[in-house]
Amino acid sequence: MRIFGTMAVPGDKSISHRALMLCGIAEGMSEVSDFLASEDCLATLAAMRALGVRIEQPSDTQVLIHGVGLHGLRDAGRALDMGNAGTAMRLFTGLLAAQKFDSRLVGDASLMKRPMERVAKPLREMGADVRTCNGTPPVDIGGGHRLHGVEYRMPMSSAQVKSAILLAALYADATTTISAPASSRDHSERILKGCGVRVDTEGLRTTLHPPQRLLNQKLTVPGDFSSAAFFIVAGLLGAPPEGLMISGVGMNPTRTGLLDILRSMGADIEILNARMSGAEPVAELRVHASRLRGVTVPVESVSLAIDELPVLFIAAACAQGVTSVTGAEELRLKESDRIAAMSAGFTALGVAHAVLPDGMRIEGRGEGPAFSGGTVDSFGDHRIAMSFSIASLRAAEPIKILDVANVATSFPGFVPLARSVGLAIRESPIRDPK
Ligand code: S3P
Repeated sequence: MRIFGTMAVPGDKSISHRALMLCGIAEGMSEVSDFLASEDCLATLAAMRALGVRIEQPSDTQVLIHGVGLHGLRDAGRALDMGNAGTAMRLFTGLLAAQKFDSRLVGDASLMKRPMERVAKPLREMGADVRTCNGTPPVDIGGGHRLHGVEYRMPMSSAQVKSAILLAALYADATTTISAPASSRDHSERILKGCGVRVDTEGLRTTLHPPQRLLNQKLTVPGDFSSAAFFIVAGLLGAPPEGLMISGVGMNPTRTGLLDILRSMGADIEILNARMSGAEPVAELRVHASRLRGVTVPVESVSLAIDELPVLFIAAACAQGVTSVTGAEELRLKESDRIAAMSAGFTALGVAHAVLPDGMRIEGRGEGPAFSGGTVDSFGDHRIAMSFSIASLRAAEPIKILDVANVATSFPGFVPLARSVGLAIRESPIRDPK
């Protein structure tokens, strides 16, 4: 299979969630273009509407948000369903902790098992009333509490935790400072600044000064680097000499750790036409087929590539020699335990690997097929499903991937787009389990 042509990936998931929430509490109308109309972001959109924000969607990817101001949200009167979206649940916990009314957040079976104390704990330190059920959802939030500015040291590097605290800190009586052990995506900070909020970042410390109001914005969401990642690896494994071109990709340095890792493995990826799109850097990427070699991934790169590690593991299986990833224990807490899910798939496809508590060591095959054919389970996790579809480029026989409906949580249109650049992939109709 040859992977070629020019493509664009849909809008960034993290930015789309944040744009809805922050523009919803800004003053006046904000316009967001290239919005990601995926299931996760549509859960946030529905929740903002339920909280009283008028949102028009003239097309799938364009939203007009009529902001209600910092104090204009109203009680939804029912539990808010976040679906599969961990980002939505964690960020809404921060936003709703500061409101006058009570709220309850629920989600699908996977989200109902994910840890929420990581956001509840700092919010309680701010004076909020946030309750979880033994650490997991439903999350119950009591309204009407005065929030205080705090200095909070996050035990892990998490943009969701940082953003939840920043959202609550908008309403606090003094500045809030958050420090982290490693950097994480800074989209909240960038959008907040665009709304006129003073947010200072000094190394790994972020300080927010509570504003009187948020200004409305006109935002264009860049292509999601995490979605581009699947095609970056596909291009490395199977592009013709002229390469595969991916346009309009978000290049925020807190997101592009995968590029540095792949380049250290010998990947030939050109960054073209680097520019700013509002507050976010974007560029075109031209990816050339490359012979990869195994590396020890620096621990500092892990938080900058956290969502891309499953597809990095696929690249590693095709590299010459051993790749090892450590310091990635957060992978166990995503939509699935991604270390266990990748290991199960590798076992089914004959890839030699060792599971570590916080990562994986993978023995790459070098040239030729790196995977047998076979059946792998995505464990309902979109990034596991898409990663194994890229593995098919180096598989001796077809790979069948089970339980793939969740691809729509982050990447609607993945299958036709993958087909358009040469991947031999098809979706089977969902079978009735009864
Ligand atoms: C996200 C942060 C990351 C990432 C997730 C999206 C965000 O999670 O894995 O897909 O939009 O803030 P953590 O904050 O748990 O690292």
